Amino acid sequence: MKAIVTGGAGFIGSHVVESLVNEGYEVLVVDNLSSGRLGNIKPALESGKAKLLVKDLKVFDEGFKSVFRDVDVVYHFAANPEVRISTTEPRIHFEENVVVTFNVLEGCRIGDVKELVFASSSTVYGDADVLPTPEDHPTKPISIYGVSKLMSENLVATYSTVYGVRSLILRFANIVGPRQTHGVVIDFIEKLKSNSERLEILGDGTQRKSYLHVKDLITGMDKALRHIRNAGRYYEVYNIGNVDWVSVKEIADLVVEEMRLDKVTYVYTPATPDGRGWVGDVKFMLLDVRKLMSLGWHPTLTSREALREAIRWLLGGTLNIHADAL
Ligand SMILES: NC(=O)c1ccc[n+]([C@@H]2O[C@H](COP(=O)([O-])OP(=O)(O)OC[C@H]3O[C@@H](n4cnc5c(N)ncnc54)[C@H](O)[C@@H]3O)[C@@H](O)[C@H]2O)c1
Repeated sequence: MKAIVTGGAGFIGSHVVESLVNEGYEVLVVDNLSSGRLGNIKPALESGKAKLLVKDLKVFDEGFKSVFRDVDVVYHFAANPEVRISTTEPRIHFEENVVVTFNVLEGCRIGDVKELVFASSSTVYGDADVLPTPEDHPTKPISIYGVSKLMSENLVATYSTVYGVRSLILRFANIVGPRQTHGVVIDFIEKLKSNSERLEILGDGTQRKSYLHVKDLITGMDKALRHIRNAGRYYEVYNIGNVDWVSVKEIADLVVEEMRLDKVTYVYTPATPDGRGWVGDVKFMLLDVRKLMSLGWHPTLTSREALREAIRWLLGGTLNIHADAL
């Protein structure tokens, strides 16, 4: 069995690569290394079971046909995942998320790939009326990042119908764990490393969201994919996140505790009158994950435990984050 993992040198993609290699897949990582790192997939490359193709998926060329030929499944994880920058630089998300997804789908079509897993996001729901938010809740994104994921989902859905590509859409909550390179925890650690007495918190600190450890994401993704294969389903959407949630203020407390600091003054900088961290920030996010749990999956770590593990890994690894780079 042969798999392509786009964005496979990134945080989540590299865990997917590891898991596929362990399952005996031959894996081709396609990544432009814009945020991905060679160090993330070094063991997989050294095993001889994974190969890396450094390629910018924004640029469609003749090469796509040979890259996607004889591939059983494509895990499409390449994207720009930084929700915050989509407000100031919307073109980045259109190109990195929508155009890249279109190109990958074209690769699937001309290479006759029959299966695709797509990394979508909770941000497609926007400010949900129902919490926990189920998969059939209306999608009303409030950020360009969110709309770029929704546009990508729509493209995937139509390629699934028209060209028979079996497609699994996973709407991720916030994912944390080893090798992560963005998000609130990193923001806090970096700020506290430069000033251990003052922490600027984007928003009013009451934003509350759900966090899932990357190892729980991998087991959930595997369960969902096996299920739709066995059930002969051609297009299915699953939320994947934790059953609990944590406020931004609580995350700050966790980071301060793990860094063994005291006397840290929190300075809140709400970007909107209702206390969001930035324009386009969804203030409350908790996904209804009962659909996935009905397949026998359950997160093994709570949001708090997942965050604590990620903080500990980062405190051991942040300074080395770039040491693994190309
Ligand atoms: N981390 C989260 O909490 C989270 C939440 C929801 C959805 N997602 C989605 O999951 C996926 C992986 O996110 P991540 O957190 O691992 O991010 P990441 O930045 O670590 O990984 C993205 C990878 O894609 C590669 N890439 C970007 N643009 C590319 C291009 N044009 N051509 C080829 N490669 C390109 C990068 O080099 C990187 O290796 C993304 O699609 C992201 O939107 C992540």
